[in-house]
Amino acid sequence: MNTVADRLIVPLDVPSLPAAIAWVERLPQVSFWKVGLELFVSTGPAILTELKQRQKHIFLDLKFHDIPNTVAGACRAVATYGVDLVTLHAAAGPAALKAAQTAISEAATATGQAPPQLLAITVLTSLTARSLALDLKIPIELPEYALHLARLAQQQGIAGAVCSPQEVAQLREICGPHFRLVCPGVRPDWAAKGDQKRTLTPAMAVKAGADYLVIGRPITQASDPAAAFQRICDELATVV
Ligand code: C5P
Repeated sequence: MNTVADRLIVPLDVPSLPAAIAWVERLPQVSFWKVGLELFVSTGPAILTELKQRQKHIFLDLKFHDIPNTVAGACRAVATYGVDLVTLHAAAGPAALKAAQTAISEAATATGQAPPQLLAITVLTSLTARSLALDLKIPIELPEYALHLARLAQQQGIAGAVCSPQEVAQLREICGPHFRLVCPGVRPDWAAKGDQKRTLTPAMAVKAGADYLVIGRPITQASDPAAAFQRICDELATVV
């Protein structure tokens, strides 16, 4: 992480390669882009090639969740893409987490590349406390469960976690200064909250311990996206 802008990840929440490239070219000042399931399933690695050609950092948010052997295979493949951050579900369990970390490190070393950092997904924010208890029969409270899964991932050598702004201060305290914490659900005071309910401002999230912020619609739906991105960078510069 070199500059304030490097801590801001903008999601390419679009369904096609031309639409994604249009955003990348419209906002050349954005250095870190998130590619999620929709775009990756639509375009395959072509979008990663386009981003690499433009020297962009890449957060590949594919949320792997499978048996250890399969997760390890996916991590070996991902290691050849030269991306920076990759997600997997902590609920895949300790053996899958460990296998993923080992596979990604070994594969990257074999190709002479820096390994992508693996980030654990704890509990999807779309799951409510009620659904967790009644539908999934998880017998502990939601924040404790999320914190437990983050610790489990850390114990298997996973570099960090994706977390809500509400959990970031606790996770920073529990997992220490070197665990990478990436927060979506961040909203500047001046932006609409949309469907994000429990938000913090970018400055508050970074002060609470976030390393990276994923901020989409406050930038992409602003009347002037470049100005919105700059305004967030200026706000962050006051706290970092
Ligand atoms: O537009 P917005 O800033 O809400 O975009 C946030 C991005 O982060 C989206 O790509 C969304 O899918 C993702 N995300 C999220 N909440 C999570 C995990 C990922 O909003 N818990």
